Amino acid sequence: MPESPLHEPVLRWYAESARDLPWRASGTTPWAVLVSEVMLQQTPVARVEPVYRDWVARWPTPGDLAREPAGEALRAWGRLGYPRRALRLHQAATKIVARHGGRLPTAYAELLALPGVGTYTAAAVSTFAYGARHAVLDTNVRRVLVRAGAGRAEAAPAVTASERRLAESLVPEDPSVAARWAVAVMELGALVCTARAPRCDDCPLRPRCAWQLAGRPAYAGPPRRRQGFVGTDRQVRGLLMSVLREAPGAVPAPDLDGVWPDADQRSRSLLSLVADGLVEQEGECYRLPGVPAGR
Ligand code: ADE
Repeated sequence: MPESPLHEPVLRWYAESARDLPWRASGTTPWAVLVSEVMLQQTPVARVEPVYRDWVARWPTPGDLAREPAGEALRAWGRLGYPRRALRLHQAATKIVARHGGRLPTAYAELLALPGVGTYTAAAVSTFAYGARHAVLDTNVRRVLVRAGAGRAEAAPAVTASERRLAESLVPEDPSVAARWAVAVMELGALVCTARAPRCDDCPLRPRCAWQLAGRPAYAGPPRRRQGFVGTDRQVRGLLMSVLREAPGAVPAPDLDGVWPDADQRSRSLLSLVADGLVEQEGECYRLPGVPAGR
């Protein structure tokens, strides 16, 4: 008997096991889908959820965000990390207003041309907001596919051509099924086929998973870089941003001295925030971009 398509057991599992997440609610606008995908790319669901809710309530359309200074987007981004994402989202909103009449474009190529939107985000938004057929390859999906399809424990550091071919071959024909498959396989990677402690006993793909059938061999690829945080410039940048977010307006330079004891690292981090457009310098003061000097 030929095997059923891979998506069928995954869709059955998803129907019973999916989390009720706000960006999956029917009626979520394409703009809100974009916001969620940008937030979720490097940040866990639990941290994203409250920030996402506040963001889409405050700025339900790109025009609402574009009317505010970029600094307000950075303030609302809070502690999600990698704050350039907030700046890019603000730039995207501005471009959507200028070029697309305030509505998120529908074409993949036009989505891809927006600031901060790469191939993953363009595919995810096309699929989840517009029901287009795309392979949506985030970290969780890549892990499921490399295990089930190729029998390896972990995906390579970057998406390979063979991985993309496999992912594309698995996208169901019917676009509405394709969209559900994309989110279902993502959820399977997030909840069951996890990196460190996979729950194979609960996995709908267990009987046909190549990794399982091979005895779950350990990862044997090139060493993967672990990103440290404590003591890095990224940590110092985060501390500086948190002071600037909390301040009503511009902050005098000496008020930033307390965030980190090493003056060289502190000023290097501050300069890099200015260079990235995340902070503006005005005389002896620093502030989030475009917010009134205040005080
Ligand atoms: N649902 C839709 N997109 C998602 C994502 N990137 N992470 C988690 N759940 C999602």
